[in-house]
Amino acid sequence: MKFFVDTADIEAIRDLAQLGIVDGVTTNPSLIMKSGRDIKEVTKEICDLVDGPVSAETVALDAEGMIAEGKELAKIADNITIKVPLTWEGLKACKALTSEGFMVNVTLCFSANQALLAAKAGATFISPFIGRLDDINLDGMELIAEIRAIYDNYGFGTEILAASIRSANHMKQAALIGADVATAPPNVIKAMASHPLTDKGLEGFLKDWAKTGQKIL
Ligand code: G3P
Repeated sequence: MKFFVDTADIEAIRDLAQLGIVDGVTTNPSLIMKSGRDIKEVTKEICDLVDGPVSAETVALDAEGMIAEGKELAKIADNITIKVPLTWEGLKACKALTSEGFMVNVTLCFSANQALLAAKAGATFISPFIGRLDDINLDGMELIAEIRAIYDNYGFGTEILAASIRSANHMKQAALIGADVATAPPNVIKAMASHPLTDKGLEGFLKDWAKTGQKIL
């Protein structure tokens, strides 16, 4: 499973990139707002840091507007993925942009039927939002499993990009189901390394080591 980082925070991306685990980045208008930065400037900096796809989201509501905005965003760098919403207009924009060779991430997906349409429209990535479904008492992971089954039934090349991930457990479940990519905030990716037994074990080893009076360096 590829790891994308769901943030426009340059320092957080740099920190995670040191481990070589950042396969791409996703942003959205809320994350740009949170960064307090200009969309083109911050996106360019992200693209300079990361070789993989960097999603930048359009805000127009009509296909024509999305296509124009998407092409403008794509000028930022070669690894830009144009993000469009899963609306009828968004699907039209997806078809037009992917036909011209742009990478497109269709976002705000909440049903298997929406994901099926996005694949038919040639989407590079489909972004089902897990956490927001869980928020309303539905099962976000069930949606990932449904899309996996449908895409595998027909050999669609659209990659399942599990989004709105809120916990390390979401990461594990997405990987078990076979999502192609998971995008998560930096704190969730870091939380994957934590285990109380690791901390406890380390504490015990260090106590015993101190009793030996030895040094390695
Ligand atoms: O990638 C989409 C993601 O940013 C949405 O996450 O936590 O706002 O539902 P959230």
